[in-house]
Amino acid sequence: MIHDEWRTIIEPFRIKSVEPLHFTTQDERDRALERTGFNVFGLSAAEVLIDLLTDSGTGAMSVEQWAAIQRGDESYAGSSSYERFASVVHDLTGLPHVIPVHQGRAAERILFAEALQPGQIVPSNTHFDTTRANIEYDRAVAVDLPCPEAADTQNEAPFKGDLDVDRLDALLAAEHERIPLVFLTVTNNTIGGQPVSMANVRAVRKVCDRYGKPLFIDAARFAENCWFIIQREDGYAGAEPADVAHELFAFADGVTMSAKKDGLANIGGFLALKDDELAARCRNNLILTEGFPTYGGLAGRDLEAIAQGLVEVLDADYLRYRVRTAEYLAQRCWDAGVTTVRPAGGHAVYLDAGAMLPHLRRDEFPAQSLTIELYRRAGIRGVEVGSVMFGPAAQHELVRLALPRRVYTQSHVDFVAEVIESVAVDAAKLPGYRITWEPPFLRHFTARFEPIER
Ligand code: F0G
Repeated sequence: MIHDEWRTIIEPFRIKSVEPLHFTTQDERDRALERTGFNVFGLSAAEVLIDLLTDSGTGAMSVEQWAAIQRGDESYAGSSSYERFASVVHDLTGLPHVIPVHQGRAAERILFAEALQPGQIVPSNTHFDTTRANIEYDRAVAVDLPCPEAADTQNEAPFKGDLDVDRLDALLAAEHERIPLVFLTVTNNTIGGQPVSMANVRAVRKVCDRYGKPLFIDAARFAENCWFIIQREDGYAGAEPADVAHELFAFADGVTMSAKKDGLANIGGFLALKDDELAARCRNNLILTEGFPTYGGLAGRDLEAIAQGLVEVLDADYLRYRVRTAEYLAQRCWDAGVTTVRPAGGHAVYLDAGAMLPHLRRDEFPAQSLTIELYRRAGIRGVEVGSVMFGPAAQHELVRLALPRRVYTQSHVDFVAEVIESVAVDAAKLPGYRITWEPPFLRHFTARFEPIER
């Protein structure tokens, strides 16, 4: 195969429609930082050269997706676009009830509103922020049970996204009456885009069966997870990604999905369910809040784009390129002595600002400082995942550089690596920051900062 014989990563597509990038001057970037209070969420897209803020909804669609969009059927009820969407999701997950929603968190909100009672507990490998927030909104408790390897950013274990099965078993033994369901997030975004092994999914399923509990999968990055299984897990070498996905979903009683990630779409998601009665209640909730069950807050054309995206995302050439790109960027960082979460995640590289800027205390926000410098120096926008985002509960001081799907080329990635190398040389000179204003919740989106003069 050509990709095994040559070193260069080749994007498995050519480009038919281009979008110009915006080059800014040092003075413009300095003024933009002053204006936004040194918060990259306040930048307008035109001020950013390479935008690695998120991989969610930021991907490029294929010619087949754009063609499918033209076929969108905008009938209020029973559109053919819904039928295609439902049939793709059904083929993928094996689940009979397919409920479209406008994005992943809407699936979470509806599911938890219908399946949770106040005071109940939902265990997971690690809940994504919106999953946790939706559980807590219903006055239930979200419990993270990551495997022990996850705590060490430098541990090279192949499946650091796994759930700690012994702790799940112990929690169910003690609290099974309070636990209505168990969740698995694949890949595990919160701890660095790390995958969950099929062996772990199987073991979690077994424990769920012993206590008669349904298992739900947050499938936002399921295809990347399947690719890691093929690369790293015994018995899966050379397997087809679609076969691995079928095996994965066969363990699930329900799936929540943000199609803005591995749906290769700019908007959308779904809730897929096995239980007829729960599905009926969720559909009623959907009608109240999102839309009729055959469009769920989306246009018919969005359903078409997602249906096509869910097929394309399982292409081995695409997944090989996708995961290799993150590995390549991480390797360039390591070669320059820059610490990142190891191994590289599927969708992002997480720089360890705590290790890179050891002269800054946590309350001087080293990951904010690094985020600002990447933008100040070269217009690259990442996101702080540290003490600004989580306050004193932060485990690490990270900067996430998330890779939009099929958007940037290898030379863009080389450019990002070159900038990181240059920032690393001057890391000891970067200033700490103090907060000059913050809102009562979710402060990272709008807080204002100023550099601390020394
Ligand atoms: N689950 C996971 C694992 C996610 O990463 C996200 C979103 C969601 C659910 C919610 O989906 O955004 O469609 O409502 N993650 C984005 C990110 C926002 O940047 O990591 P949504």
